[in-house]
Amino acid sequence: MTAAEADWTIDPVIADAVARRLSQPLTYDPPYTAGPVGEALAEHYADRHGLAVTGANFWLTSGVVSALSGVLRRLLRPGESALYFSPSYHSLPDAIEAVGARAVAVELDVFDAPERALERLAECVTPTTRVILLCNPHNPTGHVFSRSELERIAEVARERDLVVVSNELHARVVLRGTPHTPMHAVYPERTLVLGGATKSHNLAAIGGGFVTAHDADWLHAIRRQVGPEVAPARGVQQAAMRAAYSGPDSQWLTDARRRLSWSAEVLQDALTARFPHWRVHRPDATAFLWIEGQRSRDAAAQLEQACGIRGLSGREFRADARYLRLAHGLGRAVLDDALQAITAREG
Ligand SMILES: Cc1ncc(COP(=O)(O)O)c(C=O)c1O
Repeated sequence: MTAAEADWTIDPVIADAVARRLSQPLTYDPPYTAGPVGEALAEHYADRHGLAVTGANFWLTSGVVSALSGVLRRLLRPGESALYFSPSYHSLPDAIEAVGARAVAVELDVFDAPERALERLAECVTPTTRVILLCNPHNPTGHVFSRSELERIAEVARERDLVVVSNELHARVVLRGTPHTPMHAVYPERTLVLGGATKSHNLAAIGGGFVTAHDADWLHAIRRQVGPEVAPARGVQQAAMRAAYSGPDSQWLTDARRRLSWSAEVLQDALTARFPHWRVHRPDATAFLWIEGQRSRDAAAQLEQACGIRGLSGREFRADARYLRLAHGLGRAVLDDALQAITAREG
């Protein structure tokens, strides 16, 4: 249960859109920012979040990590620093460090005091800080930063003249609780948001993503500076993204969220019963459970040894080995096997 994706087949609406694109000549599609994909994205953000955007507010890319990397290369110089919330999906601090900048971890403790992270954030800003790098919803903890939390982040950014880069790839995998607010809705002047349909619609094998900002001129100035380093979205990726963002959420997406919600709940219950010393965080979003095991024990090794289930060690997320991330986007048969493996050896 290591992979950050769900086990089930894709939305038929997307499969149809991709099949239609595949039936045409597989030429380069225009790497456009306007056009039907940009329009679908703009409508989505206008309808869901009340943002006054058009297709010109989007830059379509072939992936999120490469776009993140390209953007940070333009925003940071060696010797400068960027803040990120830790634990973290490794590509965030990796992309900061690839520039020769310093990745400064701000602890996000979802078990005891998530709100403390915002006080820490303000304390961590130094004269070298240029960027706050957010992941919201947060991989690996599934924390969704509330609007008021984002406003506090914006306050810090405004006061210290920082750019916020917000990776919102899991935005449409909110399962309960806090609704997702895009960062450029609260800090429009200097936020770049990265998103895409790969997580919500299970399209990792197709890929694709976008970068968006309130200020289209600023966005495209950055796009031009990044240049060919980040490939534009290919035709098949564009077709998939357009289908994923057009109109209301499909039944497939609603069902996917329901399945994820349920698998998170039943796995949390089973794990808590099997490992009474563990704390299993029930995520508000994402297909991940974030687990805190016992101090100075390796939780991933413990789980594998006891139940034959493999998760990703906290070390993959710049935390220590007492932590563990378990992906719970499992099809019914695999989920049943996992539950059986967790409960069977109980006692
Ligand atoms: C937060 C986050 N960003 C980016 C990615 C990968 O995006 P891409 O495949 O578009 O580079 C992942 C994959 O798990 C992720 O969780």
